[in-house]
Order: sequence, then structure tokens, then C-alpha cells
Amino acid sequence: MTAAAPGGAVLVVAEELDAAADMVVDRLHQLRESGDLRTPRWHAALLATPRHAFLPAFHRPDAEGMVAVHQGDRDWLDAVYRNEPLLTQITEGIPTSSSTQPGLMLRMLEALAVADGMSVLEIGTGTGYNAALLAHRLGGANVTTVDVDPALTEPARERLAELGLAVTVATGDGALGHAPRAPYDRVIATCAVRSIPPAWLEQLAPGGLVLATVTTGLHGSALALVGSDGHGRFLPERASFMPMHSQADPGFYALQAQAGPATGERVTKLVPPLDETTAFILGAAMPQVVSFGLPDGDVPGLYLAHRSDGSWAHVLHDGRTVQGGPQPLWDEMEQAHAEWTSAGSPLPHELSITVDGTAQRVHTLDGTLSYALPHTPG
Ligand SMILES: C[S@@+](CC[C@H](N)C(=O)[O-])C[C@H]1O[C@@H](n2cnc3c(N)ncnc32)[C@H](O)[C@@H]1O
Repeated sequence: MTAAAPGGAVLVVAEELDAAADMVVDRLHQLRESGDLRTPRWHAALLATPRHAFLPAFHRPDAEGMVAVHQGDRDWLDAVYRNEPLLTQITEGIPTSSSTQPGLMLRMLEALAVADGMSVLEIGTGTGYNAALLAHRLGGANVTTVDVDPALTEPARERLAELGLAVTVATGDGALGHAPRAPYDRVIATCAVRSIPPAWLEQLAPGGLVLATVTTGLHGSALALVGSDGHGRFLPERASFMPMHSQADPGFYALQAQAGPATGERVTKLVPPLDETTAFILGAAMPQVVSFGLPDGDVPGLYLAHRSDGSWAHVLHDGRTVQGGPQPLWDEMEQAHAEWTSAGSPLPHELSITVDGTAQRVHTLDGTLSYALPHTPG
């Protein structure tokens, strides 16, 4: 049995506390085995920070659609202690917040390479659980977290306070960072960005690091670690996050409404679905293009659209390709793919990222490949 405490934190009665303690120990074991958890200090933070206190409810799919699972429901505690992301907020049918998969959280926290006394800015408070882990490791006074949604920051602030973690929780657009508490030794984003918002580097102390998932319009992602000098690299760790709201793409119907007339049909050898690496590379090569997976059925395949000029391409799973508007988008994708292949098909973690204010590039060290990321406001 469980009950809600003020602020939505969760009181768990004795028998569930025992079960939760066993689950935490099991999960720690799994995270060590998988290599996601590597260092004793994060082990201690995980052990001391109950995920269930941050998840009074979540949503999951069933045969009828999405259903809410609340504290005390059958399987609630089990789900909370599985190594899975949990969807915590849906707004007008669109997922808008989640509790990140613990394994991914740990991979990122380990990669952040914090040391005692460092100050950290987290973008994307969500439930507050990641901020709680950071606060356990560094002390609440060294942790600032920002979320755009007041419906999330208020309960997160209360949950953190109830656990005695004096984290600064701010409401606002994380693309602007949080200037009042700058400079930070580390900035960690738990929502994905198209490019690194300049404010994050401006608010970084010398020698500091930004860790963020860069995602392309083709939905390929890679985890970037960028220094205060603007030079960075991508890590081999896989990461995928919901996009930062201020950087969300235009919708399918809006882009289809501006589509130019069809210009031709042919068969391509570059057939969708694109794997994660290809989607990252081609999306970086053509930053003005966004893609939508179309369900199997009458129109299976991938639909691409230019953000503004009416160009589009529809590539079916059997290779049939129709294009329209002023630019032949799939021809250009094939060209970008050929260039990447002749450069030795470097993986994202073999590429560098260089941030110079709003000018940002993903590139090979020798400059053979160089892709300009779109400007991120903020
Ligand atoms: C995956 S969730 C974060 C999970 C969170 N770190 C936790 O431990 O529960 C992503 C969050 O990013 C937030 N977000 C989206 N756009 C944002 C923006 N422009 N500024 C700040 N937060 C944003 C969403 O509201 C959402 O809560």
C-alpha cells in the first residue's frame, strides 16, 4: 500500500519499502553488469535516491491506448525499478515528459566526469530524479535544474525538498540556460537539441563541459561532449531524448500543405528505414530537412520535407521514390551518403563538433566532411 504525501511524493509502507530496497539492489547489480554504472560515488547516489519517490504515476500503452498507472497499482513498483524509461506526461496526445531510462541516466552521469564541489546545470527537470542523483553526488547547493513546464517544476521542487535536497529548480526555456546561478562546471541536457544553445557555453566556467544529445531532422542522435572552448566530440554511448520544446519540428500536415508539385519518380538503392547512424549523418548533412515515418499500409515508407521551400520526397520500402518541389531531396541524400561512404563511413563518435557562437559544425578532424548544424535560438 502507498499514499501520496504533499507535493506528490510517495510514501511507501513497510512491506513495499522492503520490496523497493531489494529492487534497488537488483537494479544496481544489473547496471554494474551492463557497464552503465562504473564508479562508487554514483553507486552510492543511486542506492540513496528512491526512484519511486519521483514517480507517483506514469503512462503506458495497453490494448486500449495509453493508461495511467498510479502508486499502489499492481506492477507500479516493479515498473519503477525496471531499467526502462517511463512516460510521465502527455499533452494533447503528445508525450511531453518522461523519467529517463536509468541505464542511460547513469551512462550520462558517468560521462559528465564531475568532481566534488563542481556546480551543474541540468536542462529538463522532468520528475526531478536526475537532479536528485546529482544533488546526492555534489550537494543540493551545487545543482540547478530548469524545465519549461511549471506543472513539472513545482512537484519536482517539492519532492527534492522532501528528501532534504536543496536543489535550485527554475521554470523557463532551458535554451537560455539559467544565468542567475552561472557559471557552471557542467551543463547536462536531458532533452535533445538540434545544436548547442550558445547560452550554455556562455554560462560555462573555463574548463567546463556541456553534455547533450544532438538529434537531426531525420531522428538520428548522438551524445556530444563540448568544452568551454567550443571544441567537442561525440561519445559512443547511445542516447535518445524527446526534443527540447523550443526546437520541435514543424508537423507533417503543415509541411505537406506547402509541398510543391511532383517532379519525378524513380527507384533508389538507399532504402528506408535508415539506421541510427545514417539518420544522424544524413540529417546533419541536410539540416533543413525533417522526416516522418509513414506506417505500412497504403503509403509505407519515409516522407521528407524541407522546412520552408516546399521540397519533399516520399521513399517507399521497396525503393520507389517520388520527389517534388524545387530541390530533389532524395538525390541530395544519396549524394551526401556517397560522400560519407567515400570518407570511410565514419561513425558519429569518430566525428568532432565545433561550436563558435551560432556557427556550429560536425566534422571529421581533417575537414573532409563538414556539416553545419542549424542555429538554435537562445
Ligand atoms: C526526458 S524528460 C527529463 C527527465 C528528467 N531529467 C528526470 O530525471 O525525470 C525531458 C524534459 O525536458 C523538458 N523540456 C523540453 N523542452 C524544454 C526547454 N525548452 N527548456 C527546459 N526544459 C525543456 C520537458 O518538459 C521534459 O520534462
